[in-house]
This record gives sequence, C-alpha cells and structure tokens, in this order.
Amino acid sequence: MNEKKLVGEKAAEFVKDGMIVGLGTGSTVYYTLEKLGQLVKEGLQMKGIPTSAATEKLAHEFGIPLTSFLEAAYIDVAIDGADEVDAHLNLIKGGGGALLREKIIASAAKKFIVIVDSSKISEKLGSFLLPVEVIPFGYEMTAKQIHSIGCVPKLRVADGKPYITDNHNYIFDCKIPEDSQPKNLETVLNMIPGVVENGLFTNMADVVIRVTNEKTVLIEKKI
Ligand code: A5P
Repeated sequence: MNEKKLVGEKAAEFVKDGMIVGLGTGSTVYYTLEKLGQLVKEGLQMKGIPTSAATEKLAHEFGIPLTSFLEAAYIDVAIDGADEVDAHLNLIKGGGGALLREKIIASAAKKFIVIVDSSKISEKLGSFLLPVEVIPFGYEMTAKQIHSIGCVPKLRVADGKPYITDNHNYIFDCKIPEDSQPKNLETVLNMIPGVVENGLFTNMADVVIRVTNEKTVLIEKKI
C-alpha cells in the first residue's frame, strides 16, 4: 500500500472552488499536486502558491494555476508533508530544504493540513535531524552559536559543496537535545543572528492526515 498516495490524495478533498492553496514540497505532497491537477482539468477553480521551485515546476506540469502574495492576501488552505510529527502535532520539516517558504505559507494559511505516512509519527521529536536555514555569511560563527544552545549542527552538503536553498542560504541539520521543548527551541534558534528559520513547526498544524489500518485518519488540533 502506498501511504503517501493515500494521504496525498485525501488532502486534495479539502480544496474547494475559489480557494488559494499553499502547495507544499516533497514526495508525499506530489500526490496532492497530481490529484489537484486532475481536479483542475475536471473544472476545479483554484490557484496555488508553491513552497519551492521544485513544486512550482510540478504545478506547471500538472496544469495547476499559480498566483503569489502580490495578488493573494491570505491562503485558504496549505497542504504539506513533514519529516516528523509528535502527539501534539508539532512538526520537524525541511528535509527537502524548503522549510522557510513552507513556514511563511503555513503561517499565512487559515488551515494547515499535514500529510504523513506512518514512518513520520514519533512520540517525541528529534530522531530526524532538525534543518536550520542560515545565511552563508558567517555560517561558521552561526554554527558555534547553535552548538552553544545544545544542538549539534552538520552543514548539509550536495555534490561536495554546501547545499543551497531556493533562498540562496545554507542548511545545518542539527541533532537536538533529548530534553528540548519544541516551542522554546523554535524560538531560541531563531534568535541567533544568521539563522533565517528553523524546521520546527510548533502549534501550526490544524489537521494531520495519516494512515491507520490501511485507511486515512484525520487527527485534528485540540483547541
Ligand atoms: C521539504 O523541505 C520538507 O519539509 C518536506 O515537506 C518534508 O521533508 C516531507 O517530505 P516527504 O513527503 O518527501 O517525506
């Protein structure tokens, strides 16, 4: 069974005529994009705002009309994957390097829907290394500061060179302390000069769609 396909297609059901939709990044949301492309061909009226250059390209391929924050004042629904989800619906994101635009779009959304296969569910965040996007200037010093709050940063490398995000920044993948409190760590990391954003998404997801007993299950945020 392809859990990514199941949850990805399920999320497309949240998209209604006239909506502005935040389009996430990754191999799970791929199936949402594919489904939305099909629904658009069948007459669905929607416009997407992509979280990455990769998703923008896929949206073009699937025939999904796009817009931007120049035209759209808010997003009705954002749909995205995650690398880890805990019992409180806190997330680690950014395995694909798109965390900054993903967080801008998720925070602009009236509803943020997260789609995950079973491998992403975790009692406590931290088995996935936390991506932290930093500006290239002084990144060696930024690494020391990240270290000083108990995280262990490792520069992400691609083809022997620092990995470059869509925003022309670097990423540190960080081992976080065992006893970290996600909300506190999210805030403290972002106070370090040179850190642009980190992949902790605390108290942001409204709905997580996962698979249990071969069926999709919606877990909604407790208010
Ligand atoms: C992209 O930077 C990430 O935040 C993705 O949303 C996350 O890594 C999930 O990707 P997959 O659906 O490919 O696992």
